[in-house]
Amino acid sequence: MKKIKKLGVFTSGGDAPGMNACIRAVVRTAIYEGLEVCGVYHGYQGMIDNTFIPMNSRSVSSIINLGGTILKSARSDDFRTKEGREIAYKNIREQGIDALVGIGGDGTFRGGQLISQEMGIPIICVPGTIDNDLFGSDYTIGYDTANNTVIEAIDKIRDTAMSHNRLFFVEVMGRDSGCIALHAGIAGGAEAILLPEKKTAIDELIETLEIAAKNNKTSTIVIVAEGENNGGAYNVAKRVKEKFDYYDTKVSILGHLQRGGSPSSFDRVLATRLGYAAVQELLKGNTQATVGMRGQKAVATPLSEALNSNTFKLDKELVKIAKVMAI
Ligand code: F6P
Repeated sequence: MKKIKKLGVFTSGGDAPGMNACIRAVVRTAIYEGLEVCGVYHGYQGMIDNTFIPMNSRSVSSIINLGGTILKSARSDDFRTKEGREIAYKNIREQGIDALVGIGGDGTFRGGQLISQEMGIPIICVPGTIDNDLFGSDYTIGYDTANNTVIEAIDKIRDTAMSHNRLFFVEVMGRDSGCIALHAGIAGGAEAILLPEKKTAIDELIETLEIAAKNNKTSTIVIVAEGENNGGAYNVAKRVKEKFDYYDTKVSILGHLQRGGSPSSFDRVLATRLGYAAVQELLKGNTQATVGMRGQKAVATPLSEALNSNTFKLDKELVKIAKVMAI
């Protein structure tokens, strides 16, 4: 096996708070272990556009607290093509990079698998996405911060909802995952939560809202996960309003504010542990894997397993608890 001398690090897909803390951990661990490090701007697209920069320990000073990613991110259509990837591989070779660490979501994992299969250089992917939808880690980098951002927003919405006896539909991100919706919904005391993993009929929701009204609630918050089955918060609000006019109805789409902000302590430590683990896995000779926390331990999972396993993380007991707490 070829000894690794130069490591490339990049972020890809939707940015997530804590990506910078992870870049910092990768760069400093690699330097500590005697490797040269280079960053790639704009993820897989940057490999094609040849945007590589040398990095040292000072390149990552004072970034542990920053949201976003100093290396920028992208969703690259060019990298999906064979021609695009050929250019990327040529550029990586010319840079003398002999191993990579990619931080991102499932698209990053898929790209990583292609690099390792087609180009034959080792790559470790670190789960970085607010969605918490990846196999191989109990938590993804950015999820905890996004949850806290959503809770802060729900608390504020609750103040105004209570003042006006209003019904709010708050749409949260998560793509096909209801992790943010469920956790932030419970923490924010939501009266109902619509999840992608569990179909909810509008009539069932109306029944829940009627019970809330009968129980003299002066405000109601429904959390709508963006991937649920009724077409999003505006549609749900419209259909509820048609049959139920007890409250004045409002919609809030939280959108990309969920992706920004300074990472929580949890995300900074998670990102640091996983960045460190990614470099250690490469040094141990692992060639294509993701690293994640399972319980208290950082563990590696082959990318093929991570990409082909069920990422369903919905805790049925939590769903039941959310319902019980809403009475
Ligand atoms: O994967 C992170 C995420 O924020 C999802 O929750 C959301 O569905 C998607 O990215 C939005 O992507 P974009 O920023 O490209 O619109």
